[in-house]
Amino acid sequence: MSDFRDLHRLKSVRRREARCIITSPPYLDVTSFEEDQWLRLWFLGGPPHPTRNRVSRDDRHELASAYWRMVADCWRTAGYLVASRGHVVVRMAGKGLSADAVVDGLTGCAVVAGRDVSLVDWERARSPGDRPTPSDPDR
Ligand SMILES: C[S@@+](CC[C@H](N)C(=O)[O-])C[C@H]1O[C@@H](n2cnc3c(N)ncnc32)[C@H](O)[C@@H]1O
Repeated sequence: MSDFRDLHRLKSVRRREARCIITSPPYLDVTSFEEDQWLRLWFLGGPPHPTRNRVSRDDRHELASAYWRMVADCWRTAGYLVASRGHVVVRMAGKGLSADAVVDGLTGCAVVAGRDVSLVDWERARSPGDRPTPSDPDR
């Protein structure tokens, strides 16, 4: 396990070699990821009780500014890892963020990747409470 920001330090990870990265970074102020993962972390040698902000500095971002800084760090990492003409697939969301705000924030932060990045496509995922109805044309 390592912080995504440290991936470039791993010997097995080469610069601009990945053809595709599929990722789902922490969501803005939705859950405390360490607490959610505590059982898995315990099996991996962690403490036998939930912790907060000990394993990851991205445990739960409540402030939008800190959150988007983390997303920018994701782009820096992707910029290091992804090959020319490669793809980055991202699933993300956030409390109080519309789908458009997520897309704007994500694409806005991409400038720090130091690469030529363009949005290919995006889609708003349906949530369980957002089930299609018989009249839904996409059903
Ligand atoms: C939205 S969830 C995605 C979960 C993943 N798709 C899965 O099925 O396990 C975000 C994940 O990022 C992890 N995470 C949080 N901070 C991290 C960091 N700095 N580096 C790497 N992963 C981190 C969380 O523990 C959580 O598992």
